Amino acid sequence: MNVPADALSPLRPRPEGRALRAEISLGRIARNLARLQKVAGPRGLWAVIKANAYGHGAIPVGKALEAGGAAGLAVSNLEEALELRDGGITGPVLVLGGLRPEALPLASRHHLTVALVGPESLESFARILPEHPVKLHLKLDTGMGRFGFLPSELGECLEGLKALSPWMKGIMGHFATSDDPDRGFSDRQRKTFEACRHQLRDAGLSFLEVHHANSDGILRGYLDGDTSARPGLALYGLTCIPEGHALGLEPAMELIAEVARVKTVPAGTAVGYGRTFVAPQPLQIATLGCGYADGYRRDLGNRAVVGFGGATYPVVGRVSMDYLTVALPLGVAIAPGDPMVLFSGDPKAPHSIERLAQLLGTIPYELTCALHRRLGRVYL
Ligand SMILES: Cc1ncc(COP(=O)(O)O)c(C=O)c1O
Repeated sequence: MNVPADALSPLRPRPEGRALRAEISLGRIARNLARLQKVAGPRGLWAVIKANAYGHGAIPVGKALEAGGAAGLAVSNLEEALELRDGGITGPVLVLGGLRPEALPLASRHHLTVALVGPESLESFARILPEHPVKLHLKLDTGMGRFGFLPSELGECLEGLKALSPWMKGIMGHFATSDDPDRGFSDRQRKTFEACRHQLRDAGLSFLEVHHANSDGILRGYLDGDTSARPGLALYGLTCIPEGHALGLEPAMELIAEVARVKTVPAGTAVGYGRTFVAPQPLQIATLGCGYADGYRRDLGNRAVVGFGGATYPVVGRVSMDYLTVALPLGVAIAPGDPMVLFSGDPKAPHSIERLAQLLGTIPYELTCALHRRLGRVYL
């Protein structure tokens, strides 16, 4: 079957009958970057925009962060890096998850920077890089247990690493528990990172770019010497730790759905799949075109609230694939087309992304990353 190419492209932001959009303030993202830059001092920050900039839209967000003075942009894999290049981003792009050797020629053509994530890559990279050069950032596993050279592996890898020194431009680590009020493990990771750097320096390997901390690491001051950082979540104005709130981070995203239909129901009317909500008195039920297929979690049904006209109202019944339902008292003036706020940009609101994540026992990352590409994104 022939599928026209444009059949696979993302949906129009507002196809008829749906009016769901994430409104994203690039100004807030730029201000959050500036706040973090102030904490980090003269160090350049690598801005993490993997997973479509945590659901905020990689290209516009990447451009705003470049304009705001980020040292570079970091993504998870080759596909995300190429998406940035296709979208006109020309500055440094770091692939955090490393690359298979056979992808190096493509990465080289697109001037990508690649994390070197383990000893298994040394030989093949040394063979391919002279013809297909890319900048490398050596990743150390100081305690995360995923990617990176273990400190115990460095000694036996020194010759292999030295062979890559013409391309070796950076060194990095990643904190496993920077959100933990107990600094103990993070302090151990910091010490390990420094010890590894010394070992490499003694062997004649030095690095122009050094970065270790994520958002929480910056907020907690895990910025040793010249070591810079790679914030993600805080750029979007979200945080799980008190230091983030103290810095005045501004959530960049609001999720808005316009009312598709309003009906008045008598007491005793059940709403939605499973009849999990029954109106205790006459009510207005507003149906919104947003469901779990858009990334609004099913388990927010009968638990979350949405904002409308300066008040909040409960999401009642089950959230379905494309719709959710909100109950309002009879006297509230509401009509199809009226906008309701599903994710609020006010961190203190009961329907802020942080509060909803708490309600669900998860982290804000999961809520924003889950927002489907089918919903419109509007940049303010
Ligand atoms: C390697 C790496 N660095 C930095 C970050 C940014 O972390 P955060 O969003 O917590 O600031 C991530 C995110 O998961 C990551 O995987």
